[in-house]
Amino acid sequence: MPGTEPGTGPGLAHGRTVIVTGAGRGLGRAHALAFAAEGANVVVNDLGVGLDGAPGAEGGPAAAVVAEILARGGAAVAHGGDIATEAGASGLVSAALDAFGRLDTLVNNAGFLRDRMLVNLDGDDWDAVLRVHLKGHFLPLRHAAGYWRAEAKAGRPVAARIVNTSSGAGLLGSVGQGNYSAAKAGILGLTFVAAAELAGYGVQVNAIAPAARTRMTEGAIAAALPEPEDVSPLVVWLGSDASEGVTGQVFEAEGGRITVMQGWRPGPTARSATRWSPVEAGRATRKLLAQSDPPLPPYGAR
Ligand SMILES: NC(=O)c1ccc[n+]([C@@H]2O[C@H](COP(=O)([O-])OP(=O)(O)OC[C@H]3O[C@@H](n4cnc5c(N)ncnc54)[C@H](O)[C@@H]3O)[C@@H](O)[C@H]2O)c1
Repeated sequence: MPGTEPGTGPGLAHGRTVIVTGAGRGLGRAHALAFAAEGANVVVNDLGVGLDGAPGAEGGPAAAVVAEILARGGAAVAHGGDIATEAGASGLVSAALDAFGRLDTLVNNAGFLRDRMLVNLDGDDWDAVLRVHLKGHFLPLRHAAGYWRAEAKAGRPVAARIVNTSSGAGLLGSVGQGNYSAAKAGILGLTFVAAAELAGYGVQVNAIAPAARTRMTEGAIAAALPEPEDVSPLVVWLGSDASEGVTGQVFEAEGGRITVMQGWRPGPTARSATRWSPVEAGRATRKLLAQSDPPLPPYGAR
């Protein structure tokens, strides 16, 4: 229902133009529908690839989501480009400007998996997953940021939002997902830099680590996971005016749970006035480890 928060007018995202990448299915689809329900104009991007990124395997799901939004009285256009290419990413920003005359929020969400144990992971599976997630976040972010910088320099007010999609695999690691874990950890680094660099132009950048039942989580754990629609309210809020002042943060979201993830910070420290010998460094390090919390294990670790 639009206007669910008191004092927010006809919808929390009313008047905003929002791009959601990979919005033909799963989490992206849920985000696109939720933004539309809160009054946003939505650009629904999806290349329509298979779960492993195989091209064109499953048709054009973006058009179906646009049809759903229009049927509910919302405003949306489809974009079928590959967000990990320059042409796809710049065309995506142009699609928002052509259809709605402005861009306010970018939700980077598209991606796919090529899971293998490291000893079986070849260079192509590494490149494909790093490309779609990491470059597929960077390029839309850069093209959107270029537009917002030009707006800010022209003296127009900018209250822009970027929501990036990491994963528990990026936070802790996930056995059998070395490529995906590296890409999703890279997205966190990109988020922190973008939040710092773009603050002066009025752009806030945050990341989520979601968990939901989609084709990506089919199989053993899927049945236990909640609906993708449960993650979208946080994404809509982060992508709206209402999240003013929140940037450079990482949130886990699963079902009805939202958790602020608190990242690397210095723990126990030892110092020596003279250079350590390796034996001394080892002795000091063991003492520090004894004073420290053990790291959380990666997902799937025995
Ligand atoms: N489902 C979960 O529990 C979970 C957990 C952690 C992170 N994530 C992340 O959430 C995001 C969405 O995942 P999902 O579970 O909804 O998966 P999904 O497979 O249902 O949806 C992903 C969509 O991205 C599209 N896509 C893939 N490559 C693209 C490209 N180059 N350009 C445009 N579109 C492309 C696909 O066609 C697909 O429709 C992903 O980044 C995923 O890594 C999901």
